[in-house]
Amino acid sequence: MFDFYAEPFANLIEEFKKMPGIGPKSAQRLSFYVLGLPVSDVEKLAEYDFIAAGGPTHILRTSKAMKEFLEKLRNVDLKGLKGFSFDTRNESRMNHRSLMLLENSAARVIEGVLKRKKVYIVKTRCSALVEGRGGPLFDGMKERFRRIGTEIAELIH
Ligand SMILES: Cc1cc2nc3c(=O)[nH]c(=O)nc-3n(C[C@H](O)[C@H](O)[C@H](O)COP(=O)(O)O)c2cc1C
Repeated sequence: MFDFYAEPFANLIEEFKKMPGIGPKSAQRLSFYVLGLPVSDVEKLAEYDFIAAGGPTHILRTSKAMKEFLEKLRNVDLKGLKGFSFDTRNESRMNHRSLMLLENSAARVIEGVLKRKKVYIVKTRCSALVEGRGGPLFDGMKERFRRIGTEIAELIH
């Protein structure tokens, strides 16, 4: 799970783990707390109207962290929620033709899980393309996702 975090955050978790009685989970929670970040609590998702889930594409599928998150959704009732999935991917790993044919990406997997959980998909999944390994985003991607955000806000209004 920790490979998912940015280095400074991972370092903070490591520091907390050095304290007596603090295991990896507590260290993670404390780090979220110290940085003022919301702790993701999957059970609480059922209380929301909308879920947007996304992450990087790894070998045509989701990253390990996203896979773990999706597994946690197994026991949560998401029926009736509205949803959208997205991912980042590096198109240079495959040529355009195979990308179009396969269209296998993390977002596709996530969307499938949401649909099986009876989440109503308000907008078809979308990918943000990155240059090289780990970015930056290709030109126009930020604007594209801003537009998507605005569109979704109107759709779920
Ligand atoms: C192990 C690994 C596997 C990857 N597999 C794919 C892939 O199958 N298709 C793809 O388009 N990009 C692939 N990528 C590129 C990542 O999707 C891209 O670097 C990532 O989306 C950037 O986001 P991040 O900075 O949050 O990691 C892979 C990257 C890694 C590290």
